[in-house]
Amino acid sequence: MTTPVLGIIGTGMVGAGAARLATDAGLDVVLSNSRGPQTLTGLVAALGRRARAATTAEAAQAADIVLVAVPLSAHERLPRAELTGKIVIDPTNYVPTPQWRSPELDSDELTSSELVQRHLAGSQVVKALHNIGPRHLLDLHRPAGADRTALPVHGDDEAAKKAVADLFDVLGFDTVDLGPLSGSWRSEPNTPLYAFPYVGEPPAGLSVPELVGWVQGAPGVPVPAARVTELAAAAVRGPAGFQF
Ligand SMILES: NC(=O)c1ccc[n+]([C@@H]2O[C@H](COP(=O)([O-])OP(=O)(O)OC[C@H]3O[C@@H](n4cnc5c(N)ncnc54)[C@H](OP(=O)(O)O)[C@@H]3O)[C@@H](O)[C@H]2O)c1
Repeated sequence: MTTPVLGIIGTGMVGAGAARLATDAGLDVVLSNSRGPQTLTGLVAALGRRARAATTAEAAQAADIVLVAVPLSAHERLPRAELTGKIVIDPTNYVPTPQWRSPELDSDELTSSELVQRHLAGSQVVKALHNIGPRHLLDLHRPAGADRTALPVHGDDEAAKKAVADLFDVLGFDTVDLGPLSGSWRSEPNTPLYAFPYVGEPPAGLSVPELVGWVQGAPGVPVPAARVTELAAAAVRGPAGFQF
């Protein structure tokens, strides 16, 4: 396999963490955000020679696989034309707010990645990296065969899922194919596979902000593939998105 170029649209916590993981693994990355490449000078300098900044359209065009690490509420601003024919990794989670919510997600008619796929009709969307924090990706990557952590992937295109699995193997992770995008609720917020397996049990009695802070600061806990399969099978579909 030739090492793919990774486009990363969105350079917040997830995008910057994935960029560090990818450049450390020897991949070239092309980064973009909403404010323009001139605002990414510091991040590019910190990542080193394998990283460059671009506009969002350029990041999509330059890459073989594109991570869209943006809020789900911004998915309709992703560049559909430039992403046509590309494999798109979708890590977004639904965060309903008074400013933006989706009736199709609220009614469980669609999953969040089906919404993204509908906008990016010419792309092959693979849901992944949504149930683990960037810090834990950086903690838990391991060479093949060692004490490896597995990540769930969901997608409607088998070749795209294989390409993402190959990419994650290079990044230091196993994958578990959990089927099509319509089933991606099985690893989304409010299911057993979301976040906590990769950090362990939090202390009792934390407020929501304290819990978020605890999860973000906790060291990673390896999760083997068999455990991912088991937790996905135990999921029960409830209301979509974060319920605060
Ligand atoms: N944080 C986590 O632990 C975590 C874990 C798993 C999944 N996720 C999901 O991953 C996604 C990213 O999360 P995050 O925590 O990294 O968010 P974040 O820190 O708020 O960063 C969001 C990034 O998206 C960029 N952006 C927004 N609209 C854009 C547009 N139209 N075009 C290009 N870039 C745009 C922002 O650009 P600017 O910098 O210019 O504002 C920013 O760089 C979210 O959907 C989240 O639900 C988060």
